[in-house]
Amino acid sequence: LLVAWQEKYSMQQETSETQRSTEGMIDYGGNSSEQQTIVTGSAARIRDLVGGIGVVEPEFRIVDYGCGPGISAIDAVRPAIEAYRERSNGPLVVCHADQPGNDWNALFELAMGETGYASEGVRTEAAVGSFYDQMAPAGSVAFGSCFTASHWLRHAVRLQAPGTVWFADLEGEARAQMSALAQRDWTTFLRRRALELRQGGCLLVVTLGAVPDSTERNGAAASGRHIYRALQAVAQSMVDDRLIRQEVLDGFVFPLWFMTAEEARAPFEADTVLAKAFEIEDIRVEPAPAISADIFGDLIDDPANYAKAYTGYVRAFAGSTLRTQLLMPSAGNAEEADGLEMEFYSRLHDLHLNRPGKYAYELWNLTVAIRKTGG
Ligand SMILES: C[S@@+](CC[C@H](N)C(=O)[O-])C[C@H]1O[C@@H](n2cnc3c(N)ncnc32)[C@H](O)[C@@H]1O
Repeated sequence: LLVAWQEKYSMQQETSETQRSTEGMIDYGGNSSEQQTIVTGSAARIRDLVGGIGVVEPEFRIVDYGCGPGISAIDAVRPAIEAYRERSNGPLVVCHADQPGNDWNALFELAMGETGYASEGVRTEAAVGSFYDQMAPAGSVAFGSCFTASHWLRHAVRLQAPGTVWFADLEGEARAQMSALAQRDWTTFLRRRALELRQGGCLLVVTLGAVPDSTERNGAAASGRHIYRALQAVAQSMVDDRLIRQEVLDGFVFPLWFMTAEEARAPFEADTVLAKAFEIEDIRVEPAPAISADIFGDLIDDPANYAKAYTGYVRAFAGSTLRTQLLMPSAGNAEEADGLEMEFYSRLHDLHLNRPGKYAYELWNLTVAIRKTGG
């Protein structure tokens, strides 16, 4: 994979799409409290949606797309199981769906252990692949969920983006290219679910969103905007110290897009298949409950722990992307990349330690709840 990446990189294409956008997230369980809050905060909505689906023959299939390896994958499906059990003792299938690099052993230990949901009449499955492809048989899914995952684009992205690693700060042609990719991927994601959901089935997507904000460069404030500005500052400081190559940084942008409600709604109007297939129950972006101003805000008076928690969080979700797409292309070999990685997180840690709160992690959640009614 790495060799393929380096070959591709050396071709210096203006825009290229290479690897999967995420792989091998690090110490997910210890650094995912925000994701867990999003899942547990969605329990009532899951129960309502499943309650409205009714009894399904021959089996009620739940699929959690981009399930990850941690306890949130269990918390995501438990309310759906419980809500269905209030109506029926019939067969239930829980399918955890994620990429090959997910820590499947960790997940199934949780699912089958004391923390799990295994009980009579519940069958557990895994679907391994990309949610931008088909992951379940056509017409089979009664309830689908996707938490904090669909903001990752289908592929790594390379475009000329000097001065930023963050989609929301792109301008001009780079912004237009990335926006088109993001809309294409979101439409593809929904098209696949339109195929997999049965009539009357529901899909709940909750992920990071953006809200209109006229003070921002592109008219929207996106979740975690300061995270990425901190990462850009660290990366540029390493370029200045000749540790990362400038042209690598200029061509690197995180393969993410956090949609506004308007962007999330657009394909349901523009795409005839989706317009026919789905009824929208709800599309909204709102501040994450309690923690919206800075998810590490509780630690603001304890800079050492603030810096540690923030750096650990960033490393858990962004570590593999930064290593493969920014640090490896600047390093001669894996050992050098290890050294660059240590330096990168040490600088990031110090940034947060010296100025806790300067790069506050604000959070707005996008919720999309839809029902398959046609198509
Ligand atoms: C931040 S984790 C969220 C995990 C879990 N849903 C949660 O809420 O804690 C994002 C997950 O999405 C998965 N993911 C990203 N892109 C994906 C894709 N194209 N297909 C399937 N899973 C994907 C990653 O592998 C990762 O497990």
